Amino acid sequence: MPELVFTKTISESLRQYCALSKITNAIVLCDTNTQRCCLPLIAELNLPVIECEAGENSKSFEEVIRIIDKLIDLKADRQTVLINLGGGMVTDLGGFVASIYKRGIPFINIPTSLLGMVDAGIGGKTGIDYLNYKNIVGVFKQANAIFISTEFLKTLPEEDYKSAWSEIIKTAAVANESLFELIESDGNLDEIIKQCALTKSELVERDFMDQNVRQLLNFGHTFGHAYESYFLEIDKPIKHGFAVAYGMRIELKIALFINNISANEFERINKLLNEKLGVVEDGNDLFNLYLKYIASDKKNVDSNVIFSLPKSIGKGQYQYKVSIEQLKKWKIEGII
Ligand code: GLY
Repeated sequence: MPELVFTKTISESLRQYCALSKITNAIVLCDTNTQRCCLPLIAELNLPVIECEAGENSKSFEEVIRIIDKLIDLKADRQTVLINLGGGMVTDLGGFVASIYKRGIPFINIPTSLLGMVDAGIGGKTGIDYLNYKNIVGVFKQANAIFISTEFLKTLPEEDYKSAWSEIIKTAAVANESLFELIESDGNLDEIIKQCALTKSELVERDFMDQNVRQLLNFGHTFGHAYESYFLEIDKPIKHGFAVAYGMRIELKIALFINNISANEFERINKLLNEKLGVVEDGNDLFNLYLKYIASDKKNVDSNVIFSLPKSIGKGQYQYKVSIEQLKKWKIEGII
């Protein structure tokens, strides 16, 4: 498992880690945003930098080749460590490049977004998009270390900060009751991030290849991904975190209907979503439009849609199967 380092002084912590791990050659990968806002925090280490364009479009084969060309130019060898400084795009892309360059070089993730700190930067899912498929090419490969420093949040755009709360609430709702209570009581942000990162890390340790218990983290993602794909197709992309919040709203109704959660727990989760993300619509009026994405979800088994749902706050159930016909019926009956 990678070392998880929680710090308030990223530059010093990274310098110490490199010295202790005898890392003599490291290269930073960042995007145009993190180059401007985050790189200055580690500038004193004077590391060579490869920059890519900010945005999901950089998760492409063309960008992989461009970065590999740069690594060759910089004479990166198997001892070189790639330091991915950025949000989910950079850690996905950089982790993928590091896992294939010279059959794999070590890499460190420094997630700079809230979403990256609590979810995307942890767990070794690396990859790029191809055609219209998100993350269709990639490998599971753990970073050697992950540095989490809330120093970076000072420059994070408000919408990125806000939308990431859905992933924190999600992790707490299915896997950590005391974290859920900490968020409810407006606890310390650093502690919330730490507990959430550790909770995810523990699930990843138990199920690195995402075959069972890690799937709990998919709560909200079945409807969420469909919703996100729909808005992407009509050229009005929405933040992943907001899509997941939409998804959680609907999937919570399923959890309530099948008696997984009580009405009180249903309210508590919805209340927290409202408090942290603003009032979240459930997108129900678009149901028929995004049903086609649900029907083609890569998690589906034997034409059944697969859900991960809370069972009570802090506990969850994964691989809950529902047919498309059942979903349509629930929709007509007003259950979802
Ligand atoms: N984002 C969910 C996972 O890493 O499994």
